[in-house]
Amino acid sequence: MKNTVIPSLGAATVAAALLSAPALAVELTIACGAVGIEREVCIDGANRWAEQTGHSVDVVATPQSSTERLAMYQLLLRERHNTVDVFQIDVIWPGLLGEYLLDLSPYVPDTDAFFPNLMANNTVEGRLIAMPWYVDTGLLYYRKDLLERYGHPVPETWDELETIASDVQRRERSQNGNFWGYVWQGSDYEGLTCNVMEWLVSSDAGTVVSAQGVVTLDNDRAARIIEQAAGWIDTISPPAVLEYQEEDARAQFEAGNALFMRNWPYAWRLANEPESAVSGRVGVTVLPQGDSGAPSGALGGWQLAVTEATRYPDLSADLVRFLTSESEQRRRAEFGYLPTRSALYNEPELTQNNAVFEPVGRALENVAVRPSSATGRTYKYVSRYVSGEIHEVLRGTKSTTDALASITDRIVERGLGDLQRP
Ligand code: GLC
Repeated sequence: MKNTVIPSLGAATVAAALLSAPALAVELTIACGAVGIEREVCIDGANRWAEQTGHSVDVVATPQSSTERLAMYQLLLRERHNTVDVFQIDVIWPGLLGEYLLDLSPYVPDTDAFFPNLMANNTVEGRLIAMPWYVDTGLLYYRKDLLERYGHPVPETWDELETIASDVQRRERSQNGNFWGYVWQGSDYEGLTCNVMEWLVSSDAGTVVSAQGVVTLDNDRAARIIEQAAGWIDTISPPAVLEYQEEDARAQFEAGNALFMRNWPYAWRLANEPESAVSGRVGVTVLPQGDSGAPSGALGGWQLAVTEATRYPDLSADLVRFLTSESEQRRRAEFGYLPTRSALYNEPELTQNNAVFEPVGRALENVAVRPSSATGRTYKYVSRYVSGEIHEVLRGTKSTTDALASITDRIVERGLGDLQRP
């Protein structure tokens, strides 16, 4: 039964059939998006590539939590599945996933156009295992109208945030029993690690594990700021913040139930959409600083990578090249996905019409880099210890002192970092 049709056709007919796009068209699969409208923006980009090339792209859904997304990816990559060709990977994962990913350097003509530190972050043992797609950092969103109504400035320190939040909360409660001062991400997952990193770096309290592999967490400044954050629960932050991820905080803020919110740049555009109850009444700035230190934001962001198991390495790399191209990054910037190509930051039409560029620039000056380079493939344990133990402090089931000592011990015991020598 094999080849019953082809041999009966003339050579010219066969060649024509093989050359026409539909006969050769393949379907690639990309895992991207999840939070906010990220998935829709990714689908639009993938469709543009499909229109240009005649191929098609299936966009698979991924979990919203970065921690859960990693678990899904590790399963697919370790078992060398070829069901997903292109993966959107977190800035902290190159060390964890690099060994399963294709070296993209032969496919990208203009590697110099990208921020060199992001390219270095994505280079594992000399292989460029992902292309930087967008940059993220933590920002403070606030209700302009309420600060004005009650005569408060935009807070510059965590102490000021606390005072203003409790005053406005008290006054707003007469009209809205669900109103809280500050919403953020307190669930036990990667997002809490980002919040903790911001508290630490904005207080000059180290980065948990230093670039030299020294565990720096157990210090007085760290204890002070974590203690302060634990004091927010059920005073200026709802008890439910202990289960909040990005989208939960955004939902409360957009419903008009919070004065301040910590979130990433994607929240700006969405907070100002007509569906948001606070549209047009929102401001955005850098997160506050501690007693010592300076405003900071966690370095987040996502990359695009191709599995080594793909049947279509050339096409998958071409999809990555297209999605990280200048025109795509310009289009995506409008939605708060900030470019990884330095030249785009010199385009005033892009940067001046988007309120997040300025605070992102300031946050990056004192950026809180999670210790993923120092700890490589073991970073996920470090993050799990940090979010797990600090979550207990926030819940009131463990003292700050015990939690800091326990994170430090666990990191050292596992050989993920050395204790500081006197
Ligand atoms: C954002 C950041 C990412 C981080 C995650 C945590 O998506 O870009 O780097 O790990 O939030 O929730």
